[in-house]
Amino acid sequence: MRSLLRHEIAGVSVADLAREFGTPTYVYDAERIAGQVAALSEFDVIRYAQKANSNLAVVDWVRRQGALVDAVSAGEILRALAAGYAPRAAEGEAPPIVYTADVFDRDALDLVVQHGIAVNCGSPDMIVQYAERVSGGDVTLRVNPGFGHGHSRKTNTGGEHSKHGIWFEELADAARLAEQHGLVVGGLHLHIGSGADLEHLALVAGAAEKLAREVGPSIHTISAGGGLPVPYREGDPSLDAAAYFAHWDAARKRLEAEFGHPVRLEIEPGRFLVAEAGVLLCEVRAVKKVGARTFALVDAGFNTLARPVMYGAYHPMSLAPGDDEPRPESEIVVGGPLCESGDIFTQEEGGVVRTQRLPEPRVGDHLLIECAGAYGFVMASNYNAKPLPAEVFVVDGKAHLARARQSLEAIFADEKIPV
Ligand code: LLP
Repeated sequence: MRSLLRHEIAGVSVADLAREFGTPTYVYDAERIAGQVAALSEFDVIRYAQKANSNLAVVDWVRRQGALVDAVSAGEILRALAAGYAPRAAEGEAPPIVYTADVFDRDALDLVVQHGIAVNCGSPDMIVQYAERVSGGDVTLRVNPGFGHGHSRKTNTGGEHSKHGIWFEELADAARLAEQHGLVVGGLHLHIGSGADLEHLALVAGAAEKLAREVGPSIHTISAGGGLPVPYREGDPSLDAAAYFAHWDAARKRLEAEFGHPVRLEIEPGRFLVAEAGVLLCEVRAVKKVGARTFALVDAGFNTLARPVMYGAYHPMSLAPGDDEPRPESEIVVGGPLCESGDIFTQEEGGVVRTQRLPEPRVGDHLLIECAGAYGFVMASNYNAKPLPAEVFVVDGKAHLARARQSLEAIFADEKIPV
């Protein structure tokens, strides 16, 4: 059983973190991220899906661990460059940054062209728009293999209900389209969903192999996408990285034998690298009885961490009491400060309010919402005119401010009263 009392994060005391940086604050453990990168080191390329956590300190750290990076927008391309990634590959090397999306917005296409960023096209229109601006070269294609899986319907990116990728039955046409526009299809990429289970993930390698055969020996790269699950709940299975690699490696080797040249094997995790490294540190500001239930209200809300309200996602929690008195455990509803009933961290999909077992919370205690390093800060908003939280990066037991808390004035600094 994990302890429900916790006084430190990555070796730094919770009380010190709260005193120095305030709350709510995301705290990231650099070592934990490094360990996750290392766990996937058998893959030729680990391409970090920075959408999970694009703080420059995190992206830079992942880069220093040897991973390459994915970008889904103009902003993420600029973040990757700012974190030290080179825009394009040295001869024969994998591109440091790949832009993967289903559309080019105009800013992204301009940046791709300007910096020579590699592109992974999820729609035939991307192929055409790219070819209009760049003559010749390689693209990779993101394919929807006709099936998908995710921890929520909203994170399933395969099958007929998904907007993502080139439908597998359209692949031959898309490859032809690329060729007509003077482009070579150098790779295929399959990402069936986020937080997928291992059963579904295991099917993807077979699909990738079959589709690569359809395109033929121009294929030099296959990407397994991301979606690797992490154990949010006690007892959730952990990924057997070696078995997962072996499965993909076998498919890759069969393709190499057929094509007569090496095929690079990429993986593109977001959550797996950063989720468990992050804690959302907040302060208990009110405790009240509501019927038979006890609600603890903290200073973070779904403006700070949206996963529970969006997906009914479960995040384990623990308490750092402000005193040494015994705190008997009980079932607690944890909510935030927002003016909306759905502002509850202990909920299931559909908004059903649940509880979590916690030591008795009191005003002034600190609450730690764990496994919050992925899709936490990046999905934060200014709802209710709340500022974006601070982010802190802990390396070697030392806490560094990685993003200052947004000032209240900055929330509306770009607004104008027009008349
Ligand atoms: N590659 C592609 C093309 C993706 O679309 C995604 C996630 C990833 C990689 C990384 O997936 P991961 O390894 O992190 O599961 N906001 C949701 C997750 C949305 C994921 C979108 N795409 C959440 O909080 O669970």
